[in-house]
Formats: sequence, structure tokens, C-alpha cells
Amino acid sequence: MTMNILEIENLTVRFKDSCASAVEDVSLAVPGGSFTSMVGETGSGKTVTALSIGGLVNGAVTQGKINLRAKAAYVFQDPYSSFNPLMRLGRQLTEVNKDKEKAILLLSKVKIQDAERVYNSYPHEVSGGQRQRVAIAMALMSQPQLLVADEPTTALDVMTQSEIMVLLVSLQKEMALGILFITHDLPLAGKYSDVIYVMQKGRVVERAEREEGKFTFHSDYAKKLFEIG
Ligand SMILES: Nc1ncnc2c1ncn2[C@@H]1O[C@H](COP(=O)(O)OP(=O)(O)O)[C@@H](O)[C@H]1O
Ligand SMILES: [Mg+2]
Repeated sequence: MTMNILEIENLTVRFKDSCASAVEDVSLAVPGGSFTSMVGETGSGKTVTALSIGGLVNGAVTQGKINLRAKAAYVFQDPYSSFNPLMRLGRQLTEVNKDKEKAILLLSKVKIQDAERVYNSYPHEVSGGQRQRVAIAMALMSQPQLLVADEPTTALDVMTQSEIMVLLVSLQKEMALGILFITHDLPLAGKYSDVIYVMQKGRVVERAEREEGKFTFHSDYAKKLFEIG
């Protein structure tokens, strides 16, 4: 049995001045070293749940329990938002942990060929896929055991998207990194996950585990999401 590095129990988040809850009674667990996904349409409460893990939601009333037993780091949809456009990537990578050697090592770990050049580049001087790789390397600088990746591939073209997915899986296996992968794309999550939580209107409507290599969904909602992709 693997220990859960994250357990969310009955999380409800309601923004002030809003009558409906953004997240309603959500429970989920991420076992250490697992690839766990949270999937749902836009507005279903995925990001609010993800931000709640790090206590990053402001202006809301929160109920429920979050047991985070590991160091967590985030990767977001738009890698531009992770970076200051006026600072070279290397300086941003080493802002907290001033270890250039480690930064270069992590750049090669995220499969950046010309690590030294990228290290010395500004964010706009590298491709979108490379920028997302650097964002992942930056998240890894703090040596997290949990990586919360909120739609990390949504802004990328399909080829680059699958390269980033392959990278995430290889980091998961090599570094025993637990990943909470967030996406609106259920077929994509189905390719790589061990466990999938399907969200709808702030609630978890289905939890599915990979069995004999594939997922079987039972709710009509998840079946529909799986078809439309
Ligand atoms: N800062 C905020 N203030 C008020 N409402 C918010 C805020 N952030 C998110 N919401 C609302 O919470 C719900 C869930 O949003 P979100 O978690 O961002 O959805 P998702 O990531 O699944 O697209 C949405 O209805 C959204 O409008
Ligand atoms: Mg979101």
C-alpha cells in the first residue's frame, strides 16, 4: 500500500458575494508516486480545488480538510504567467534555490537539449513547449514530492502536448513524483493516469481506476466527456 501524500476531505469553497459554491464536498486522494487526474469542464472547480491545496484561494469561505503530507509545487496552463518577461530564465530558476548546477541538471532532466542557452534566454526567446518544460524544471527546484499540474498542456499544440505528457510520466516514474494532473480532456487523462476523478459543477461525480490497462466510466456524464474529448 502506498501512502497518500495528499488527502482532501469534504472540501467546500464558496466565494464571498457568490451564492453557489465553487467547490462542493470534494474528497480525493493522491497516492505517493501516482499519476492522479482531476477532469472536468471549464468552471467545474478544478483550479479552485488545486489552489486550495496550497492555501492559495483568497476571498472565499472554505470548509473541509486538506492533509498535505509532502512538499507540493505547481505548474500552470500558461507558462508565460510563471515567468517575469524581463528576467532571464536562469535567474528565475535560481531565484529561491541559488544552485545553477542543479538548474542546469533539471533543464536536462526535462529534456531540454541546449540547457545552457535556455538558461541564459528570456522567456520569449524559447518555444512554448520549451517554456512549459522550464516551468516544470522550476517547480522541481524545490524538490517536491507532489506536482500539481493545472492544464499544463492546454495552451500547446497536439504534438507538444503529448511530449509534455510523456515527460510528466517519465518524471513520475524516475523521481517517484506524485502528480495531480488537471485537464478538461478526459481521453488525454485516460492515457496516462492511474486514477481519475471526474468533476462536474464543483463536485466529484465519479472516481475511476485503471483496470487491466483501461478505464471504464459508469456515469453518463463521464461517458459523454470521454466521447467528446
Ligand atoms: N476568485 C474568484 N471569485 C469568484 N468566483 C470564482 C473565483 N475563482 C473561481 N470562481 C468560480 O468558481 C468556479 C470554479 O472555477 P475554477 O475552479 O476556476 O474552474 P475550472 O478550473 O474547473 O475551470 C467557477 O464558477 C468560477 O467562476
Ligand atoms: Mg482551471
